[in-house]
Amino acid sequence: MKATRTRLPGITLRDANASDADAIMRLLADVNPDDPDAYEDARPNLALPQSGPLSHHRALAVVAEDGTGRLVGALLGGAPLWLFEHPGVTDAVLLHALVARIGTISAVAVGPEHRGSGVGGELIRHAIRRFTRAQYGLVTLNCFPALEPYYQRLGFSITGDLNVYVGAGLLLGQRWSDTQVAAKALDRYTAFAAVPGLGSPVVSGLLPGSRVPRGAYFDGEKLCG
Ligand SMILES: CC(C)(COP(=O)(O)OP(=O)(O)OC[C@H]1O[C@@H](n2cnc3c(N)ncnc32)[C@H](O)[C@@H]1OP(=O)(O)O)[C@@H](O)C(=O)NCCC(=O)NCCS
Repeated sequence: MKATRTRLPGITLRDANASDADAIMRLLADVNPDDPDAYEDARPNLALPQSGPLSHHRALAVVAEDGTGRLVGALLGGAPLWLFEHPGVTDAVLLHALVARIGTISAVAVGPEHRGSGVGGELIRHAIRRFTRAQYGLVTLNCFPALEPYYQRLGFSITGDLNVYVGAGLLLGQRWSDTQVAAKALDRYTAFAAVPGLGSPVVSGLLPGSRVPRGAYFDGEKLCG
């Protein structure tokens, strides 16, 4: 994929390739010194041929470069891993449907000398456009408290649990012990609904037949109404 210009002078975005892997891992290790290898699992994706629906099938890897071709930022994303382990996702059809509709941004990092100049915002807005074009209905990311206002300015809602209604009363709830979730609806079908019995809003309309009905409530096990 060719480079995408940004509003920032000299800064362009492009899909990552295998030869970017070391530089991307260095950037991510720099922002995550406690767990410098946290994103090594993403390395094999970069070796895949670039092909849709995202940059590398269902993985997204984008880099920001300055005018000299130096890598100044990176964003990784793709399928939410929690879906693969969730006890409520019991069949492959549902898993495939959800993986095609929920995208996640797993890491964003900007080199120290470029922080605060808008590179992170450009990468995140670009990822939102990519997920939207690929017909995802929801994008999420895990968010440390200090960055909540930042993601809210980028159009995300911050929530404690991620609750996704998949129809027929079945609600998938996911909670992280150390972070909140930032979530953004990407199409006209997907919305957040307040449901009595739940402390966090419910993602409604993500799959066919999954709109939260008016008057619905959670009885502790399933969505009723
Ligand atoms: C977080 C990060 C990806 C944002 O990218 P960026 O290009 O610097 O962000 P932008 O220029 O688009 O936006 C800047 C805004 O991000 C927010 N921000 C960035 N880092 C922040 C931090 N550590 N704490 C709070 N807000 C932060 C601020 O609102 C900032 O606005 P300001 O410059 O007016 O203060 C980047 O700064 C980075 O890689 N930081 C290192 C990791 C980090 O600080 N993580 C935070 C852990 S809570």
